[in-house]
Amino acid sequence: MALRRKFVAGNWKMNGSLAANGELVAGLASALAGFDAADVAVCAPALYLPQVAELVKGSKIAVGAQNASEYAGGAYTGEISCAMLKEFGVRYVVVGHSERRALFGETNAQVAAKFAAVLAAGLVPILCVGETLAERDANATEAVVAGQLDAVLALGADKLGGGVVAYEPVWAIGTGKTASTEQAQAVHAFIRARILAQSINVATAVRILYGGSVKANNAQALFACPDIDGGLVGGASLQAQEFAAICKAAA
Ligand code: PGA
Repeated sequence: MALRRKFVAGNWKMNGSLAANGELVAGLASALAGFDAADVAVCAPALYLPQVAELVKGSKIAVGAQNASEYAGGAYTGEISCAMLKEFGVRYVVVGHSERRALFGETNAQVAAKFAAVLAAGLVPILCVGETLAERDANATEAVVAGQLDAVLALGADKLGGGVVAYEPVWAIGTGKTASTEQAQAVHAFIRARILAQSINVATAVRILYGGSVKANNAQALFACPDIDGGLVGGASLQAQEFAAICKAAA
């Protein structure tokens, strides 16, 4: 038996409509009928979460959100709390996606606070880390990823173990440029070693997903790497057949 059960999560980003979501989830549920070799989730825009939670009923597909507030409630106009997400059938919450870090100014400290809030609500955070092309070119990949990881590790290794990590090199997101299996495996091994320095149990059990232009034709090679435990999939998760094929590559 594999050490860690593989996990594939789709990140729809700001895409979808009532009609498109219905078609996508129906196609996915039928393509994945009887599939139980890996965990599968779809992370929909917040407004559609109740719809998607309804659509996945009867399937093994779990529902994820793409963001959540670090605050429990109160005067935070426009925000959505983790408890609210939970009420609508959400199980996973992506925190610290590179688009939120780059476009909405989320800091390592804020991402760590969100991670803690998601856990406190009884949900599973998916912590995204990853370097930009400039950072990779400056040989700063490990320093950047370490800083992003350490902010959450500071909550305690046991806390990190309650979530999932996703390594997503920013230069590979939505660009069609996937990290090579060697590049991805090297950073995954670095992340696992850094966790190992704090807890061997957490390092052994925690799932580290790869994200960045994962497609049906590269998923199998990526998921075969020893420290890659599945994928966080953007563009390709909007096509039912393509996403189902990626999930099956994680078997
Ligand atoms: P992509 O996005 O698969 O479209 O590159 C991945 C992500 O941003 O999670």
